[in-house]
Amino acid sequence: ITGGGTGLGKSMGTYLLSLGAKIIITSRKMDVLIKTKEELEKDYPNNIFAVASDVRKIEDVENVINESYNHFGKVDYLVNNAAGNFISPTERLSAKAFEVIIDIVLKGTCNFTLTLGKRWIKDKTPGAILNIATTYAHTGSGYVVPSAAAKGGVVSLTKSIAAEWAKYKIRCNAVAPGPFPTKGAWDRLVPPGFSKFFDIKKRVPLKRVGEHQELSNLVAYLLSDYSAYITGEVMTIDGGEWIYNAGEFTYLDKIPKAMWTIIEKTIRRKRK
Ligand code: HXC
Ligand code: NAP
Repeated sequence: ITGGGTGLGKSMGTYLLSLGAKIIITSRKMDVLIKTKEELEKDYPNNIFAVASDVRKIEDVENVINESYNHFGKVDYLVNNAAGNFISPTERLSAKAFEVIIDIVLKGTCNFTLTLGKRWIKDKTPGAILNIATTYAHTGSGYVVPSAAAKGGVVSLTKSIAAEWAKYKIRCNAVAPGPFPTKGAWDRLVPPGFSKFFDIKKRVPLKRVGEHQELSNLVAYLLSDYSAYITGEVMTIDGGEWIYNAGEFTYLDKIPKAMWTIIEKTIRRKRK
């Protein structure tokens, strides 16, 4: 699990451990990884391997895969979860700022997919890849343009790899989460004071944000053999958020129930 020391990566890892998996967590900050490893080891001793890497650097990625094979003997699954993001008007971004997000999200996902995929193909072992996208990978979104572009690339990579590597018994799927509060995301996307002006829950027809366990359930399913016939799929998990805000007439939610009798009468009268 890339980015497995914090946030959603940590939650997914914890759930996978509870289902009997052994996990490898990797990210840039070894101190964060060690802290997570020590915390999880209380319940799952010897089942967590932590190794630092920058997903942008292919030599780091190759080292993670080699070290993981040395440690556990094999690797069956890959969760491309590491990401970088922050809100900003696009015209304020430097080329470096754009590049850093594209490199972590898209290049990082490519680096791990390529390195582990080559190994699986060489060893003739099956595998499953799960990429963490987001809903705006499909719709696009202002103010997170590098992330939207990179996640769009991840969705395309997911489908393309699924098509090409099915013959090697390698599946590749993605999930597209809506809002699931984490420190990493909220520090960069929901600055203090924002809640006065925007209530994220109001954008979601189910009127709440996602629970980490709900995402972990989906991830576990898509990695497991229960989903053996699913590949190249991107599953949205957002409480209906994107479809709600995209729908032409969803704004009619704002009309008080009592007004519908008058509206109906008006429409019927016009028909006559
Ligand atoms: C404008 C910014 C900026 C900001 C950084 N930069 N923050 N520009 N506004 N807020 C610019 C810097 O000035 C620099 O450009 C370039 O970006 C690289 O910044 P560094 O700090 O040198 O990069 P680095 O140390 O590698 O940090 C990467 C990072 C950081 C992405 C900027 O935020 C990070 O480490 N993020 C990891 C965790 C994360 O982002 N989690 C959120 C995931 S949530 P110059 O030109 O000045 O050198 C998500 C989806 C959520 O992905 C969807 C919710 C619904
Ligand atoms: P997070 O806690 O900030 O997770 C991001 C992780 O990526 C961190 O552990 C970070 O660790 C790691 N990372 C960043 N740059 C890296 C690099 N160059 N090399 C290796 N690791 C790197 O945020 P999160 O909310 O849990 O996000 C997890 C995933 O969910 C991301 O893919 C994100 O796009 C996606 N997502 C989140 C939400 C949400 O609402 N939270 C919604 C949609 C999609 P280091 O700093 O130690 O490197």
